[in-house]
Amino acid sequence: MDFLSFLVEYGPYIAGGIVVTLELSVSSFLLGLVLGVILLGLSTTPGKIVARPYIEIVRGTPLLVQILLIYFGLPALGIKFDAMTSIFLALGLNSAAYQAEIFRSAVKSIPEVQILSAESLGFSGYQVYRYVVLPQALRISIPSLVNEFVTVIKESSLASVIGIVELTRRGEYVASYTYRALEAYLVVALVYFIVCYAISHSSRRIEKALKIPGYT
Ligand code: ARG
Repeated sequence: MDFLSFLVEYGPYIAGGIVVTLELSVSSFLLGLVLGVILLGLSTTPGKIVARPYIEIVRGTPLLVQILLIYFGLPALGIKFDAMTSIFLALGLNSAAYQAEIFRSAVKSIPEVQILSAESLGFSGYQVYRYVVLPQALRISIPSLVNEFVTVIKESSLASVIGIVELTRRGEYVASYTYRALEAYLVVALVYFIVCYAISHSSRRIEKALKIPGYT
């Protein structure tokens, strides 16, 4: 059987795994977004003694280990999640740390002179944040956030190690059923590539549309 007939026979089954992959990625990314904003908020208050170590620890340990800790480790403490919830939490908690850093560098990139000018016009601290810093910081963050979303999609393939039947796991099934690992994983890779490429490509468009004068 050549690659084309393999594609016709197993392609649709493997590609169907993208549904679970995307469900998982979108929900985890949104969890990361909410927690990321909270972490950013905390890092400007005394709450930073929690936020900073959290961000460092999450970014300094492998995502796979975090998944294994949540799924296999936490039950020892009486905390038990099913596989889907575990991977949703692991990906979301992980992405939160990266998203918090994205927001932090966006906020830092606003030129100080704008803040000083706003203050000299009588803006309060809150008004400076709300009307000067935040609208620009969000726009600046968008390309990196899209990038982060693409990362989450790719990292979600780790869900297969705890038995979630998403894109990668469907490829594993087909590989062991047909003994055609090369073809099976090529199809898996192709589906990830098409989706991720489409998303990052559309991000370039958004970036152009939202271009802020004075920023490169
Ligand atoms: N593969 C890396 C790890 O295991 C990256 C984790 C996720 N990265 C991200 N931007 N959400 O640590």
